[in-house]
Amino acid sequence: MSEINLGIIGAGGIAKEHLKVIHSLRTVNLIGITSRTLSKAEELAKTFHIQNIYNSVDDLTNKCALDGVLVLVSADQIYNVAKKLLPLGVPTFLEKPPGILLNETQSLAELADKHGTKNMVGYNRRYYSIFHKGQKIIENEGNILGLEVEGHERFWRIADRSITQKVIENWIYVNSTHTIDLLRFFGGEVENINTLTKRIKEKKGDQFVASMEFKSGSLGTYRSHWYSPGGWSVTLFGNGVTVKYKPLEKGVYIDTNLKEHQILPDQVDIKFKPGFYRQMENFISLIRTGSLNHPGVDLSDSIMTMRLAEMFVHA
Ligand SMILES: NC(=O)c1ccc[n+]([C@@H]2O[C@H](COP(=O)([O-])OP(=O)(O)OC[C@H]3O[C@@H](n4cnc5c(N)ncnc54)[C@H](OP(=O)(O)O)[C@@H]3O)[C@@H](O)[C@H]2O)c1
Repeated sequence: MSEINLGIIGAGGIAKEHLKVIHSLRTVNLIGITSRTLSKAEELAKTFHIQNIYNSVDDLTNKCALDGVLVLVSADQIYNVAKKLLPLGVPTFLEKPPGILLNETQSLAELADKHGTKNMVGYNRRYYSIFHKGQKIIENEGNILGLEVEGHERFWRIADRSITQKVIENWIYVNSTHTIDLLRFFGGEVENINTLTKRIKEKKGDQFVASMEFKSGSLGTYRSHWYSPGGWSVTLFGNGVTVKYKPLEKGVYIDTNLKEHQILPDQVDIKFKPGFYRQMENFISLIRTGSLNHPGVDLSDSIMTMRLAEMFVHA
């Protein structure tokens, strides 16, 4: 199989997690990296044997024959970097959120469409092996009847971090879209939704509750209280079986005798940041075949998740 040449933009914590995965893939070659602070790119290049370090995104794209590129920059920079890249037609992986606001994500989706650029957005929870195993356990007994997602943020910690005001103000798009996306991953498209939003401090809301019906007929609920320690969890209700992930990285199913059984993760979700290995496999497959396989999300699809978030903001 021919080698895939990948370029990396960004040299922070998440770039390192992606690089651990890519470094383990035999048919992928790390051809170049660039980042805002060059010394960090140099450090990663040394650790992961990346061939070339470039001063800028333009340098990377002009000087490398890229088969694919990963945009792993800070949340408030993804949109700006993606705007430059998408017209080049190189298959592009974007960390979330592609745009901090819905209209930014929409304009990126239009740009990708216009230039026929294959793309993928990094909603890595969709690739958790325990999620796929849990879905099978439910489906063995019939349809999924309902699901419950709890997406409590640790917002008291966010305000202390050195992140921009725009990111803080739009945290629902920047981070809560991870858990909002899980509604769509497990339930499919939403048919009806009722949302309630409270604003303790944040203009766009910091307490969210929703009840919904999916097109499949399943019922769903979502709860998120940003100042209450609770973490993220998902419960799936099936016929005679309930599957629970609390935290998301630990799965159990409960049988009709109320006995709990563990759902164990695959090795790749233990060795690497959960979901990252299969997510990268999907991106490589997108580069090779030109089509994005389930459970991948592209820019157009991520708009649907952002629209759900927008419903909370406008409730
Ligand atoms: N999927 C997940 O579970 C998950 C988890 C965490 C984060 N993320 C996402 O991943 C992205 C990166 O997060 P992180 O935690 O790695 O952040 P980080 O540690 O702040 O790293 C971001 C990196 O991008 C560089 N950068 C910023 N703007 C740039 C630009 N315009 N051009 C080139 N390089 C630029 C930064 O340079 P400096 O060194 O100069 O700052 C830094 O090296 C964020 O968008 C975040 O939302 C996803």
